[in-house]
Amino acid sequence: MSGQIDVLLYGLGAIGSFYAFVLSRSENVRLTVVARSNYDAVSAKGITINSENHGQHTFHPYRVVKSPAEASPVDYVVCAHKAIDQEEVAAQLKPVVEEGRTTFVIIQNGVGNEVAFRNRFPGCSILTCVTWVGAIQISPGIVNHTKSEDMQIGLYPNTQIDDATENQHLKTFADLLKHGKTRFKVLDDMQVQRWEKVVWNAAWNSITALTMVDTQTWLHSSKDAEPYTRRLMQEVINIARGCGVNLADDLIQKLMDKINAMPGIGSSMQTDCKNGRPMEIDVILGFPVRKSKELGIPAPYLESLYLLLCAVDGRIRAAL
Ligand SMILES: *[C@@H]1O[C@H](CO)[C@@H](O)[C@H](O)[C@H]1NC(C)=O
Repeated sequence: MSGQIDVLLYGLGAIGSFYAFVLSRSENVRLTVVARSNYDAVSAKGITINSENHGQHTFHPYRVVKSPAEASPVDYVVCAHKAIDQEEVAAQLKPVVEEGRTTFVIIQNGVGNEVAFRNRFPGCSILTCVTWVGAIQISPGIVNHTKSEDMQIGLYPNTQIDDATENQHLKTFADLLKHGKTRFKVLDDMQVQRWEKVVWNAAWNSITALTMVDTQTWLHSSKDAEPYTRRLMQEVINIARGCGVNLADDLIQKLMDKINAMPGIGSSMQTDCKNGRPMEIDVILGFPVRKSKELGIPAPYLESLYLLLCAVDGRIRAAL
């Protein structure tokens, strides 16, 4: 690889810091990070990763800024922020975007995450990703990463841009991931991956956040809890199919086997709720619920969870 590649990373939590580390392994990457609560720590001491796969590393990004307004246009904008207020974030990123040059890389849970960026910057390529990295920020600028590490990445196709250019945008970024020695796979159709993970998240995130119990405690809380969960998952699968995303029939059983092979777990939404932080309800439930209405696909279980979570989220936001 040759030629300098300017990258701005927005959302310097555990996942963002992990991918900042991966990108920092390429000498031709000039990395700017947008840091908020960890700005002072990261400016002074850089970012430290303790990884069971990669060992311990400390690195200093080229620049640490508090807002995209302090930076100039880049080749890649990596969005690893919590998926709330997507429209607002897209608006804030305007100073670092140059249509025809900038490509977005979205590393978030949920579906429909790309829409705000496509609408605001119709001339940009978007790479959409699902990540399976297990990491936590144990103190500002210090991230512990377990062995869990994988990513699926692919285009969110832009019909305004020719295929060769889009594929080059994808290849250049995939080469950075490869050089950064992280596990990943390039896929042709990312929407299957995104929706599959949403089937999981719509069930477990919502239920654990609303009940404040773990997954196993929920499943054993009444004889109808498991059938309820399966029907909820079926609703999301039906909506995905309505959107042209063909999820396999046996997904529900696979996800139930997976959850039953684990000890009871909470979720990021449960943690956010406990800590009085806004939750990722729009990309995990809101978008599917809107699609169900547009397409006339009934989803009463999903919609009820969404409405209850909207009220809880509203209470949390009012107290901020
Ligand atoms: C983070 O990782 C370091 C190095 O492996 C370890 O000493 C420390 O206990 C870990 N901290 C937490 C909170 O897991």
